[in-house]
Amino acid sequence: MNKITAAITAVGAYVPEDVLTNKMLEELVDTTDEWITARTGIKERRILKDPTKGTSYLAIQAAKDLIRKSNLDPAEIDLIILGTVTPDMPVAATGVHVASEIGAVNAFSYDLQAACSSFLYGMSTGAAYIESGRYKKVLVIGADKMSSIIDYSDRTTCIIFGDGAGAVLMEPNYEGLGLQDEILRSDSIGRHSLKIAAGGSLMPTSEETIAKKLHSVQQDGKTVFKFAVSNMADVSAEIMERNNLTNEDINWLVAHQANKRIIDATANRMNLNDESKVLMNIQRYGNTTAATLPLLLSDYEKQFKKGDNLIFASFGGGFTWGAAYLKWAYNS
Ligand code: UT7
Repeated sequence: MNKITAAITAVGAYVPEDVLTNKMLEELVDTTDEWITARTGIKERRILKDPTKGTSYLAIQAAKDLIRKSNLDPAEIDLIILGTVTPDMPVAATGVHVASEIGAVNAFSYDLQAACSSFLYGMSTGAAYIESGRYKKVLVIGADKMSSIIDYSDRTTCIIFGDGAGAVLMEPNYEGLGLQDEILRSDSIGRHSLKIAAGGSLMPTSEETIAKKLHSVQQDGKTVFKFAVSNMADVSAEIMERNNLTNEDINWLVAHQANKRIIDATANRMNLNDESKVLMNIQRYGNTTAATLPLLLSDYEKQFKKGDNLIFASFGGGFTWGAAYLKWAYNS
């Protein structure tokens, strides 16, 4: 029997209806549409306004979209990995609720937190389960309700993030398609550059932590930018070299949508001169953390052809980062 590789065989996504534009942010903080567009590439983001709905809602909608499009019987799903930094609750894994709500009655599920690299790490984990031969259908979801952890009076963070979710189904492939290689990295040098300081075991919630607004995302943007540019570009170039890929061999760059300038720097380093190969939807959704990569796959799915070479790249808090080389497995 041929070697088992783990292929993406279906994609789904969901973004909430409410739009938060740069113009609307001008009313909230001291910023301008021009500044945000020039420094990040973002024009608008989606916000899940309903206070009774958490990240599970976004993830459930994305999973249902995938199920509808692929005619998947949810009872056949073996495992659901939910990448998120905004679980519904700190304890009681959100993925478990997602599994029950979509009718994945035979699946087990858990959450995976690696900040903006959660989906890439989740894809790696899902692929390993498939390659082992132990499981046949693994759903990997990236979902975040970033608006729940953003301080909308902090102009250095509120302009960046948005809410959304995306999902992929991973299945065994016997033609050599799917995940080919990956380089995953982490370094706690970034522990304090992008964080929510309070609410964990180190600094439990108190009146003081609330008064000091320590439950929202704090970011040293300049430092994160510097590390993101060099590290994401480095692993993307390294994975090309290691797999003897030239820029012409690559059909698509699927890069974390944090800042257009970071994506451009990565594409440059890969000598991807053809802009149409660089997937981009940051202008519409901003940075949706765990959801950026599957949201890109969903937006561009119809353009992918069986056998296309995709390079995934991500960078996030922690720091966590990495790149993956995947051969697309189907024509839509
Ligand atoms: O997904 C996880 C990983 N996260 C990232 O990859 C984010 C990485 N960082 C970035 O994308 C960028 O650093 C930001 C978009 C966050 C900021 O852009 P920047 O070009 O690095 O700006 P800066 O922080 O160096 O600030 C430049 C100036 C400052 O003013 P002064 O000190 O030069 O007078 C800021 O106070 O821009 C000011 N500024 C703003 N001005 C208008 C900061 N935020 C804003 C704003 N509107 N929203």
